[in-house]
Amino acid sequence: MTEELEVVDPQELFQEFFKTEEYRQRISQMAVSDKTSLILNFEDLVAFDQKLAEKLSRKPDEYLRHADNAAYAQLQIEDPEFAEKIETKAETVTVRIVRLLETAHLRKLGSLHIGKLVMIEGIVVRSTPVRPMVMQAVFRCKRCGEITPTDQTGPFLRAPFVCTNPSCRAKGPFDFIEEESTFIDSQELRVQERPEDLPPGQLPRTLNIKLIGSEIVDIARPGDHVSIVGTVRAVAPTLPRVGKLRAFILHVEANSIEVLGKEPETVLPSPEEEEKILELSRDPWIHRKIMNSVAPSIYGYDHVKEAIMYLLFGGVPKTLPDITIRGELNALLIGDPGTAKSQLLQYVARLAPRGLYTSGRGTTAAGLTAAVLRERGGGMTLEAGALVLADKGIACIDEMDKMRPEDRVAIHEAMEQHTVSVAKGGIVATLNARTAILAAANPALGRYEPHRTVAENISLPVTILSRFDLIFVLRDVPNKEADSKMSEHILEIHRKGLSPVEAPIPLELLRKYVSYAKGIKPALTNEALQRLKDFYLAMRSASETEGSPVAITARQLESLVRTAEARARVALRKEVSAEDAEAAIAIMNRSLEEVGIDVSSSRIDIDLIMTGKPKSLRDKLHTVLSTIMEMERETGLVEKTALLNELEEKYKISTGEAERLIGQLLREGTIYSPREGYLKKT
Ligand SMILES: Nc1ncnc2c1ncn2[C@@H]1O[C@H](COP(=O)(O)OP(=O)(O)OP(=O)(O)O)[C@@H](O)[C@H]1O
Ligand SMILES: [Mg+2]
Ligand SMILES: [Zn+2]
Repeated sequence: MTEELEVVDPQELFQEFFKTEEYRQRISQMAVSDKTSLILNFEDLVAFDQKLAEKLSRKPDEYLRHADNAAYAQLQIEDPEFAEKIETKAETVTVRIVRLLETAHLRKLGSLHIGKLVMIEGIVVRSTPVRPMVMQAVFRCKRCGEITPTDQTGPFLRAPFVCTNPSCRAKGPFDFIEEESTFIDSQELRVQERPEDLPPGQLPRTLNIKLIGSEIVDIARPGDHVSIVGTVRAVAPTLPRVGKLRAFILHVEANSIEVLGKEPETVLPSPEEEEKILELSRDPWIHRKIMNSVAPSIYGYDHVKEAIMYLLFGGVPKTLPDITIRGELNALLIGDPGTAKSQLLQYVARLAPRGLYTSGRGTTAAGLTAAVLRERGGGMTLEAGALVLADKGIACIDEMDKMRPEDRVAIHEAMEQHTVSVAKGGIVATLNARTAILAAANPALGRYEPHRTVAENISLPVTILSRFDLIFVLRDVPNKEADSKMSEHILEIHRKGLSPVEAPIPLELLRKYVSYAKGIKPALTNEALQRLKDFYLAMRSASETEGSPVAITARQLESLVRTAEARARVALRKEVSAEDAEAAIAIMNRSLEEVGIDVSSSRIDIDLIMTGKPKSLRDKLHTVLSTIMEMERETGLVEKTALLNELEEKYKISTGEAERLIGQLLREGTIYSPREGYLKKT
């Protein structure tokens, strides 16, 4: 096939295009923003001259040059002054293409695409700092002092072959003269496939992007969703002493980069779907319906599913001039092995728009938050972790107790402020992590021990625990009736290969429902506000009068508001009703009960979550210890049976409970047993 003859100069064609009303205007406005970039919408070019557009995408190196020249020529007409100005700075106009007709799938890029213009979309997972790259290097001959400017292209800095002084012609050595060389800002990004483009069960692919030019660097940060138009390049990796490999590595040299909307990319509901969503929202049983649609194959756990529903919808973030308060909820499931935690988490990651499932260790070197990594070349890159990638979505973190030590520190900020700050290896950055967290963890000792506190049961610091709005304990205790029902349920699944309970709302519709609801920002009504306030004050005063620890903190008040807002959102209501407030109080009570209720005084005891010990337990441990010390003064060693009697008679502590308390003191090492049946304080 022969190439058709070029009848018209492509530069003239481009200039025709730039003479259209829209682009004349864009060009004449370049001086206002003092930018040398000119954005060209590919769709406009297709409409203007389809052949030209095709050639541009097939031979971008050649045609972008024509476009740049044409744009400059038109600028000389529209705004000669600005054209002059950029000329004197040895710059020119750079045409930047956006919106190709189709997006190339990252995993499908291959040899066919080399040298072509493509558009890809993905999440930035890594970025290097902006680095000056030399475009024209100036060298001085060491022998005669002659100056030789050398244009640079490849990845390595190249000195001239020979000195340009005809009477010298030395092959070196040369000195690189920094002050006279020209540099341009450059940056490298690594972009990963979007989760929604990922075939099921596949690991996401990544692609390196090279950005060259001060107007396109530093635009995207790790965690951002971007659309990039650029030329596909292939480079052979070099092995030291062996040479270049035959298999090349692809990267994209970006021509333009756009940060896409921060909201999860959702498919808008069709008019019929919207009708269905609105109809569902009017159902008085909508909350129950949605709860029952959350992992219907998992038996029971209604309260957990209710919490997951609130997590999916979320509360309303408040942005005040001085502070911002998160709207997303965080929930933690602590449970015995085999209690369907992982199953629930994986389901939620699939259901939620921009949901992400990861283990506490994270799936990359960046772990849950972020990491600064040393590249092979010696430079530093910033890599985003799971919470940053799930920005504006839900991060489902399984085995949270096993997270990296670095994450243990960074996650405090991520969970409350919703940012991840990094300052290491010359990189200083703050990344967004506005994500709801659904976490799961196993009890520290394998099984949940009810007579121990939450903090003792899980190896997470209390500062992290207190950042969870809701905490539930999933215990696996044999119970004839429940076991029989659950086994029937599970066996039915295995027999039919189907869920015995059908979801009232199919997953696809539910996902659209959630995205739709996110657009609603419910506000507290006076009644709701009053209920929440009453509850909060009752808790506070209960703690005040009896001299007990703080029963509830401002954190719980905010959690209540978020939960109530989420419940209003579920029904697509703009107002948080008293009923929403009651439901929020009920689930909060349930969560506190599971982890913090001080069973003996049946009061909520936040101290349990905060310090790891309920007030009355601390009191009782104290009583046991002081009784031991008292008896020791009289008898030296303390006989255990005598101690049990004393505790029962004087302090009404039952033998069973006293045994547990003694057990705990023994484990803590506060007391020890010098011989069978006797105790002593250490
Ligand atoms: N309530 C339940 N309803 C249905 N299936 C259940 C239920 N509880 C457990 N199972 C089943 O038990 C199996 C184990 O569940 P899963 O792996 O999610 O447990 P896990 O809580 O993550 O355990 P681990 O803490 O050991 O990771 C799954 O196949 C799950 O379907
Ligand atoms: Mg698991
Ligand atoms: Zn020379």
